[in-house]
Amino acid sequence: MELQNRTAIITGAGKGIGKAAAIALAKEGVHLGIIARNSSDLESLQSLLTSTYGIKVYCAPADIADKEAADGAIQSLAEQLGSIDILINNAGIAQFGTLLDMDPVQWNNIIQTNLMGTYYVTRAALPTMLKQSSGTILNIASTAGERGFATGSAYCASKFAVIGLTEALMQEVRKSNIRVTALTPSTVNTELAVNNGLSIGDEDRMMQPEDVAELILATIKLPQRVFIKTAGIWTTNPQ
Ligand SMILES: NC(=O)c1ccc[n+]([C@@H]2O[C@H](COP(=O)([O-])OP(=O)(O)OC[C@H]3O[C@@H](n4cnc5c(N)ncnc54)[C@H](OP(=O)(O)O)[C@@H]3O)[C@@H](O)[C@H]2O)c1
Repeated sequence: MELQNRTAIITGAGKGIGKAAAIALAKEGVHLGIIARNSSDLESLQSLLTSTYGIKVYCAPADIADKEAADGAIQSLAEQLGSIDILINNAGIAQFGTLLDMDPVQWNNIIQTNLMGTYYVTRAALPTMLKQSSGTILNIASTAGERGFATGSAYCASKFAVIGLTEALMQEVRKSNIRVTALTPSTVNTELAVNNGLSIGDEDRMMQPEDVAELILATIKLPQRVFIKTAGIWTTNPQ
């Protein structure tokens, strides 16, 4: 798919994988709507991308775990962009601990952000794609959505659910020319990983957010008539 002058909304674009995806799409001439809670992260990315690539970038600071906030952000970005060709559901949080050690509030927060946030944002954006009779939705899941591990009950539950949501929605909308894909990266060198002790010490040997952005770009660039259902990306370096 030719990307010049297309439009994309990216959640969690303030840092990490979402920011790298925003930069990769901006280089291709895609106009962007970016969402995160921290507005100064969004504003500095906006000024970098507009000055470097001459594209339009609109910011919508919002907590996607809040349905009204997610609805408002998508509505305002859709109006400003005029269309939503691509939606990247990337915003997510992680916290690990045994099922008994994790506070139910923390557990619920992970489900609300990773699962319900993805659902709220998608539900708000989908009518625009259906009207256009085209679109691409990428959900950033995780290897944690394919394989459970001790201390990962909340995070794994949220990511298994995102993969289920992705596959069910894919079956609903593929005949409307809308592609829905789940990407399942293993550990990536971002604050989310490092803050949870997932760094291997030598950060250069870890997968970088820019590497995941390459996969995001390659997935989107496929002809509109085809899509990747689920794709994993791993580092060649043993961890
Ligand atoms: N890093 C890894 O090892 C790894 C591996 C596989 C999958 N993933 C997934 O990749 C995605 C991105 O993770 P990352 O590693 O890039 O994390 P990150 O560096 O911590 O960035 C996460 C982004 O999401 C935003 N965000 C978090 N909660 C939000 C909310 N409630 N509403 C709106 N925005 C929110 C954050 O901004 P604010 O805090 O300002 O809201 C930030 O911009 C996540 O879904 C994660 O589960 C990560």
